[in-house]
Amino acid sequence: MNHNHESAIIAKGISKTYDKKTQALKGMDLTVNKGEVFTILGPNGAGKTTFLRILCTQLMPTAGDATILGDSVVKNPEAIRNNIAMVPQDAMAYANFTPWDYAHNFCLLRGMDKPTAKKKAEEALKAMLMWDMRSKPCQSMSGGEKRRALIAATIASDAPVMMLDEPTSGLDAIGRRNVWSTLRERAAQGKTIILTTHMMDEAEMVSDRLAIINKGELIIVGTTAEIKKQVPFKYRVIVPESEIDKSKFSDITKIGDRLVIYLKNDEDAIELVREMLKKGVQAEAAPVTLEDAFVRLAGGELL
Ligand SMILES: Nc1ncnc2c1ncn2[C@@H]1O[C@H](COP(=O)(O)OP(=O)(O)OP(=O)(O)O)[C@@H](O)[C@H]1O
Ligand SMILES: [Mg+2]
Repeated sequence: MNHNHESAIIAKGISKTYDKKTQALKGMDLTVNKGEVFTILGPNGAGKTTFLRILCTQLMPTAGDATILGDSVVKNPEAIRNNIAMVPQDAMAYANFTPWDYAHNFCLLRGMDKPTAKKKAEEALKAMLMWDMRSKPCQSMSGGEKRRALIAATIASDAPVMMLDEPTSGLDAIGRRNVWSTLRERAAQGKTIILTTHMMDEAEMVSDRLAIINKGELIIVGTTAEIKKQVPFKYRVIVPESEIDKSKFSDITKIGDRLVIYLKNDEDAIELVREMLKKGVQAEAAPVTLEDAFVRLAGGELL
């Protein structure tokens, strides 16, 4: 389907075993097109960070290979480092560096001339709403502010491929939106962006395509719409467990004393909502979400 796109990242059979026993990745194949925002979703421990660390040449795969803009992570990691910038999952800006120091020095280190470095640092700090705080030492900043300073440095790098491991964890709603729009803008300029997140609304909002991985294996790749289609239901209705006869429904997820009932067609959804309202119980039918698809595909508990 993507034959008319140029590929930025091609991973083939990537496996990683830590300490001769933990098999974090089991033959991952994945292609990311140039100029797209690509999101990796997966439960804790699925292998997302391991995968990104291999792509950014911090870690060697046990088997398989990947190319970034044509260079192999196994054979030519040095060449890759010029083309990528990464926000690691756990990294926090600290010490007495300021956001300006991070962004500006990062640009100089990557070989930009001084005027370009200044311009790129300024643009990125403004995009991350860090411009007013550019001269404040990071050690005296909040967690989210530190995180934004690091994201700004990566954005400033102007690298053709940017990798961000849970960039928005700990960011407020406004900060998250800023990251999303900045990533979308950069992708529109032709940058390739690969990120991870646990937030389904984020994945839906920011990605062109996404992949769900679990236990080191690829479960599904596609657009949000394509992935939602994998759930054979159209609607979900949340009801108190005590109010319904469970035997009447085939697909139910239990959340404590509440049930999420999945329904295939409009009539069944309307019927259930009407039944609840008659009893004076609040209920509404909502379309299935990416989260429903995720829970199902990544092995949620179904009753
Ligand atoms: N340095 C390491 N040494 C040994 N095992 C590791 C190491 N790093 C990760 N693992 C294991 O590899 C598996 C994948 O970890 P990874 O960090 O890639 O998951 P993740 O998908 O990023 O999870 P999270 O959503 O929690 O960040 C896990 O079982 C983890 O315990
Ligand atoms: Mg991780």
